[in-house]
Parts: sequence; structure tokens; C-alpha cells
Amino acid sequence: MALVTTTKMFKKAYEGGYAIGAFNVNNMEIIQGITEAAGELNAPIILQVSAGARKYANHQYLVKLVEAALEINDIPIALHLDHGADFDICKSCVDGGFTSVMIDASKYPFEENIELTKKVVEYAHDHGVVVEAELGKLAGIEDDVNVSEEDSSYTQPDEVEEFVDKTGVDSLAIAIGTSHGAYKFKPGTKPQLRFDILHEIEKRIPEFPIVLHGASSVPQEYVKIINEHGGKLKDAIGVPEDQLREAARSAVCKINIDSDLRLGLTAGIRQVMWEDPSIFDPRDYLKVGRANIKTIVAHKIKDVLGSDGKADEVR
Ligand code: G3H
Ligand code: 13P
Ligand code: ZN
Repeated sequence: MALVTTTKMFKKAYEGGYAIGAFNVNNMEIIQGITEAAGELNAPIILQVSAGARKYANHQYLVKLVEAALEINDIPIALHLDHGADFDICKSCVDGGFTSVMIDASKYPFEENIELTKKVVEYAHDHGVVVEAELGKLAGIEDDVNVSEEDSSYTQPDEVEEFVDKTGVDSLAIAIGTSHGAYKFKPGTKPQLRFDILHEIEKRIPEFPIVLHGASSVPQEYVKIINEHGGKLKDAIGVPEDQLREAARSAVCKINIDSDLRLGLTAGIRQVMWEDPSIFDPRDYLKVGRANIKTIVAHKIKDVLGSDGKADEVR
């Protein structure tokens, strides 16, 4: 089947109390690991590409790799731009075969966020592409943007209805305590998402799909493998999976995961290289990293998102 938008995915996820996994892709092995897991579990998925991924791998390579994955795995796949910073990058992805784009104007004042988001929505909708926007600011690092904890801010429920009405956006990313990267919470503190804010938002915009960024759980088994094989990841802490499961049962229809895949790939590569320093065939270590990604994605789909077996209802 061809690439799909997220419209039907989100409708079914909302009604069924599950979420679609949105996984960041940067190269062939990552795409293979994710789509092999989703294919075997008959799960719909979103593959998302950041500006950094486009810079690293080249737009065309990524599109062609995703198209190859689609030919091999008979599941609904949406190709999404992650954190589009301006109109031009969104337009380039709409024109270049993506079925979904995010315009992230969350760093601008409310009215400017509305204005820019609306402009992207008009262009994207004219071309059959859906749009995600963001209200509230997540802490962490994406590409060149580094939002400190002090500058991060929760989404204000009072703003969501006006934002959605005025922009015509298709889904909304909110800030309820998640953050980007592998260091989400201070050591010794209890990680807790603000479900009270999420539920207040759900009330204001019923049946509207919500997106959770920064939702990696930073699996400690992979942190341990990295650290036992020459790595140095101190106090890497993620979102507890039971809280992600709770979010998936609510209006949250899309859950973004990147850091966990990075950890899985890095753990595999480090382990092989550390245990046998004579290895220099890239296939020997990349295949172990790719297998870790497959294991991680299968676990997310089955045990966290609840999207296994849902491909047929989205087709
Ligand atoms: O939200 C950020 C994603 O993890 C993408 O990261 O911008 O380094 O590719 P990146
Ligand atoms: P993590 O860093 O928690 O994987 O978040 C990824 C993300 O939100 C991509 O947009
Ligand atoms: Zn993000």
C-alpha cells in the first residue's frame, strides 16, 4: 500500500484507547529494525524525520528507504516531518512526498504560533497532507534548539480550544512533563507526568488527537550495556512505561520515541566492538544494533502503545 496520512490512524487510536508509535529514522538499519517489528506485529506506525536527519541522510534517501520498507512490510505507514521549524521546511516535505508535517512554532508567542501554524495548515491541506503543531515548551535538545528546564513550560488548557479552532491543525503536541533526550528527570526524584493537565485539555477539545513528544523510557538494560562497554551515560532517566500506557489509553494518539532507539543501536555497536576489537566489518556491529531496535519497537508496540494487530482497521 502507499504511504498514508495519520487521519484514520488517530481516529481508530482515539476510539480504541491505544496510541500509534512515532519513531525517528536516520538510516537504513533504523528503518529496518522499526518496520520489521511493526510488520510482524501488524501494527500501523509513523516514521518521522527531523531536520537533522534530512541533513545527515538526505531527504531522497530517507523517502526511498521508507518506500522500500513499505514494499516489504504490508502495514500502514505515515511519513512525518518532526519539529519543522519554519514554513519552508514544511513545504519542502509536503512537496517531497511526506504525508504529515509538524510545524513547531511553540517557541513563539501564542498569536505568532497561530499565524505560522495556520499558514502551514493551508498549504499542507491543499496538498492532502496533515499537520501537527505544538503548544507549551518541552525541555531538552532537538537539533540546534536547547530548551533549558527553566524555559520549559506546560501547555495551558485555556489556550488549546482557540489554537485548534483558529489554525485548523490536525493534532496537537502538548507539554505535560516529558522532555527530549536521555536525561528527563533529576536523579532521586520521582518522574510524574501531569495527567491533570492532559485531562483538562481533553475536556476542552474532545475527540482531538494529542501527541506526546519526549516519550522515551530510557531502558536501563541498554544504558547498562553501554556503560559496561566503554560508554559514559550517567543518570540517564526516562518516562516510566506505566505512565506512557496510561497516556496511550487517553486522548494521546501519537507517542514519539527516538532516544530509546539511539540507546539500542549504540548498545549493540559498543558491545560488539568492545568484545571483539578485531571486528571492522560494519555489518557485524550494525546488525546487532538493528536487532536491538527491533526488540525495543516490538516491546513498545505490544506492551506500551497497544497498537499490535491494529493495521487492518487503519487500512
Ligand atoms: O525531538 C527530537 C528528536 O529526537 C530528533 O532529534 O533533531 O537530533 O534528529 P534530532
Ligand atoms: P525522546 O528523546 O524522548 O525519544 O523524544 C523524541 C521526540 O519527541 C521526537 O520528536
Ligand atoms: Zn519531539
